[in-house]
Amino acid sequence: MWRNKFHITPKVGLLNDPNGLIYYKGEYHIFYQWNPLACEHGAKHWAHRKSKDLIEWEELPTALEPRDWYDIDGCYSGSAIEKNGILYLIYTGNVKRDGERYSYQCIARSSDGINFEKLGPIIDDSDIPKGYTKHFRDPKFYFDDGKYFMVIGAQRENLKGTALKYESKDLFNWKFLGEILSEDFGFMCECPDSFNMAGEEVLIFSPQGIEAQGDLYNNIYQSGYILNGNQQEFIELDRGFEFYAPQTFIDEFGDRVLIGWMGMPDDKEPPSIKAENWVYSLTLPRKLELKNKKIFQTPHKNLKKLRKNKIILEELVVDNLLDLSKLGVSGKTYELIIHFDEESPEFQLNIRKSETEKTSIEFSKRDKKIILNRNLSGQGYSGVRKCKVERLDKLHLFVDRSSVEVFLNDGAEVLTSSIYPSLNSLNIDICSKKLFNIPRLEFYEI
Ligand code: FRU
Repeated sequence: MWRNKFHITPKVGLLNDPNGLIYYKGEYHIFYQWNPLACEHGAKHWAHRKSKDLIEWEELPTALEPRDWYDIDGCYSGSAIEKNGILYLIYTGNVKRDGERYSYQCIARSSDGINFEKLGPIIDDSDIPKGYTKHFRDPKFYFDDGKYFMVIGAQRENLKGTALKYESKDLFNWKFLGEILSEDFGFMCECPDSFNMAGEEVLIFSPQGIEAQGDLYNNIYQSGYILNGNQQEFIELDRGFEFYAPQTFIDEFGDRVLIGWMGMPDDKEPPSIKAENWVYSLTLPRKLELKNKKIFQTPHKNLKKLRKNKIILEELVVDNLLDLSKLGVSGKTYELIIHFDEESPEFQLNIRKSETEKTSIEFSKRDKKIILNRNLSGQGYSGVRKCKVERLDKLHLFVDRSSVEVFLNDGAEVLTSSIYPSLNSLNIDICSKKLFNIPRLEFYEI
């Protein structure tokens, strides 16, 4: 009842970070951290799927299994790159010996994009630069100006998080260049990703141990970015609850696309474990764009292929309560777009609603905030996340069986959340104390 319909979920066990995202020989490949043995962290494999359009995914044999001396306790996160038609994966081999952690950066290759040959470590545990601990992982490749680069998450010996950069001519011999984060970012920075976009240098990473500041950084751990090395401004990529360890790649249209883990390390046990023996999903693919020094994220255009029955409603009047279910707008899996006039007043949109449950998205005009509230969403999780918006032009939602992704104002903000409602919580309504008009609403079943 909670297994998401149009998000990637593991058939059993635990899914976490997206890995090795790449458009290779005309197909999208996605790998993800997978523990097939239990719904808990451990024994990480690289599960593998491919797709022609980022929508219909074909399951492939597991790409990497933790079976060798250099990755026996987990094939941890990493990335992919193509060189001369060969697909290379780089990942962290996690090894625990006598209670100690060892970290090997390893490479694997494939010429058919299905079968991978492990080639072993290219940065040995003993080559971790001086001054850093064994929390050294999650290499992300990129190619720039005739050379290969890699950024990697690290922890200094003073137990502060940072990220490091390497370069290579051939993918096998790597030269340490230094830190790309000089400030302290908590106690560890995981999954860095570095790229250029519209002339700006973007660094995405997932720091652990940042203090909450008002509405900011409220989750257990964060994921965000800095621009042009400006470490004073770390901007969260998602303002909801479950979003972590995102990775980006370039799609067939030349756009940069991001996929994240719809989950969080060290969180409370999600109810899908006991009920269905699987846990966590990946987010939908989002196209990234940089506008006025800010990343905007919009649903990937191929997601339109998911649209089934459509209902378009125009000039709707909200007079206290607009029960959209009476107009055929309700369900478990759908896309909903609401366009607002300049004068949209305070209102609350409720989804997955029944007598006892609802997940609400409220616009507080006075505070200029969007408030995502899952206190009555269903089982397992609760809480509220708030996010500043000057005005509200558009709400764009993707609702799956146990998730909601809310895109505000064409991607200026995104709020992602897991929810575990009952099967009969299907209604959608909009409440407002003041009468107001909704010029257009689009609803697509998925
Ligand atoms: C992030 C992370 C990575 C690590 C992987 C292990 O969620 O902790 O740092 O490589 O998960 O599954």
